[in-house]
Formats: sequence, structure tokens, C-alpha cells
Amino acid sequence: MSKPVLWITRKLSANTEARAARDYDVILNPEDRTFSADEIVAMSQKVDAILPCHSECFDATTTARLSDRVKIIANHSVGVDHCDLAVLKARGIVVTNTPDVLSDATAEIAMLLLLGAARRAAEGDMLVRSGNWTSWSPSFMVGTQVTGKRIGIIGMGRVGQVMAKRCRGFGMEVYYHNRSRLPEGLEQGAIYHESLDTLLPVSDFLSLHCPATPESTGLMNAARLSQLPKGAILVNSARGALVVEDDLLAAIESGHLAAAGLDCFVTEPGGNPKFASHYNIFMLPHIGSATRETRDAMGFRALDNLDAFFAGREPRDRLV
Ligand code: DGY
Repeated sequence: MSKPVLWITRKLSANTEARAARDYDVILNPEDRTFSADEIVAMSQKVDAILPCHSECFDATTTARLSDRVKIIANHSVGVDHCDLAVLKARGIVVTNTPDVLSDATAEIAMLLLLGAARRAAEGDMLVRSGNWTSWSPSFMVGTQVTGKRIGIIGMGRVGQVMAKRCRGFGMEVYYHNRSRLPEGLEQGAIYHESLDTLLPVSDFLSLHCPATPESTGLMNAARLSQLPKGAILVNSARGALVVEDDLLAAIESGHLAAAGLDCFVTEPGGNPKFASHYNIFMLPHIGSATRETRDAMGFRALDNLDAFFAGREPRDRLV
């Protein structure tokens, strides 16, 4: 029996690609180039399944143009804001994602952002690296202590819960907002806030862990940023769309926020050039899940979903 034809849109881990090549008639992308909407549509005529990343956009327009041959989109990501799920569902295309397996790696990056922003990592690195570190005194490069502070977490799903655990390890008090309150066993002492209006004023640090949806787009705007205590620090390892970047910039420039740590931007790749001169904005290029272990785990999870689908079973991470 011939194998299903699978298009893997980006270069994935060697282990993932080897397993895919064993089980599918696979089309790889060794140059790791990106594809336009027209190229995605053209390729859809040749394949039964697509294993994309969040760099490929399946919005309503592209999805409407996909070939009927495509039966499943098995994402190599937990976030699916690049997919119009309603339109994909209407087209009868199954969509899966890769939850759980990247929670540790992403929470590690959130913690790195939190620490880096609090302790002025970008500025310190730049000083030493450029040879401009010429003096030291007790008043030099003084930052914000993390231990004993209050962390507010928006989105207490898998990544948010790991982040809460890491923060407890640093002696922080954990407060959170989520669509629904967690069972006590999962809360681990974290204090639930039904409303952001009460969470934000108690958040010395605020870490975003919710998906980007039409409802959460622009969540952290000027009004919400102003509800944080003066000197607060914002961490975003979720999606750039959650933050109104001009409002964040204004809050940094006014000194209302002491710093920010960002792994995600409205424009990716690239980021926001307006942030570049602000060394109290510690930035990374969307690498939350970029560890060798997690890349293998994400690839395998996507392949598990495909294997289940083509074996006539329900994929574990089916979204539509
Ligand atoms: C995810 O899985 O959503 C990460 O942001 C990488 O795409």
C-alpha cells in the first residue's frame, strides 16, 4: 500500500525527519525556506497531509484555496493562531497541535526573560561585550530583586502552571487569572483572580501565557499596563499580539514599567525596531520551545497525531 504524502514545511529535528521519512512519502525543506500563500496552495495539490509550523499561515483565504486532497494539518506548535480553525473545520480538514511537550522549555524561557529583565541582562551583556565596562560601585547596574515578589500569571494552562512552579522556586507569591479557576490540587497555593482589574495591581511581575485569539489580541494595552504597580516588569513568551507594542513602549519610556522581557513580537521574524534602544527590554527571537529535547518531542507528537489519523484513530491532539 502506498504511503500518505506528507509535506513538512520547515526543517525539523533530524530524528523527526528520519521517522517521517520512514513512515510517509515525505517532502522535506532542507533549505528551511518559507513559503508564500500561493506556494502553500500549489503544494496542497500534491499532498495528503501538511506538518507546518506557526510560520505558515492558514488563514481563511489560503484555507479556502487548499486542495481537497489535504486531509489533515498536524501543527508543530501548541499555538494555532496561524490557523483559521473555523474555516478549516468547514473544509473538513483535521487540525492538531503539540501541547504539553513544550511547557518546560517555554517556562524556562519565560523565567529567563523575567530574570533577564529584572537584573538588566541585556544592558550588562552589552557593557561587558563592547569593552565599555570601566567602573564598578554599589550603585552600578542595580536591578529588581525577584525573590519575595508577586508574580501575576495570565493563562494558567500547561505552560502557566510550570511557570508558577518555577516562580515558587524563586520564593515568589503566585497570583493568576484564567478562564476558570484551577482545582485546588493544581493551584498549589496560587491565588485566583476572576478579573484582571484585581490581578494587575498586585503583579510586581506579569507573565503572559494565554493563546492569541480575537478576544486576547491587544490584551495588554495602555489602560491595563497602567493598572500594574509602578516599577512592574512584563514578560511575554506567548504571542506578540497580546501586547499593544506602542503602549508598552510608552510605559517603558515613562518609567511606569521598570523593564520587559519579550520572546514574541507583533512582527515576526524581525521584532520591533522601536524597542532596540531600550536596554531594559530584554529580547529573544521566539525561541521558547527551541531546545533539542523539545524539538524532538514536538516533532514526534505531530507524527503521533498523523499516525493516529491515517490508522483511522482519533488523533490525541485534535482541535477540529
Ligand atoms: C508554539 O508551539 O506555539 C511555539 O510558539 C512555537 O511555534
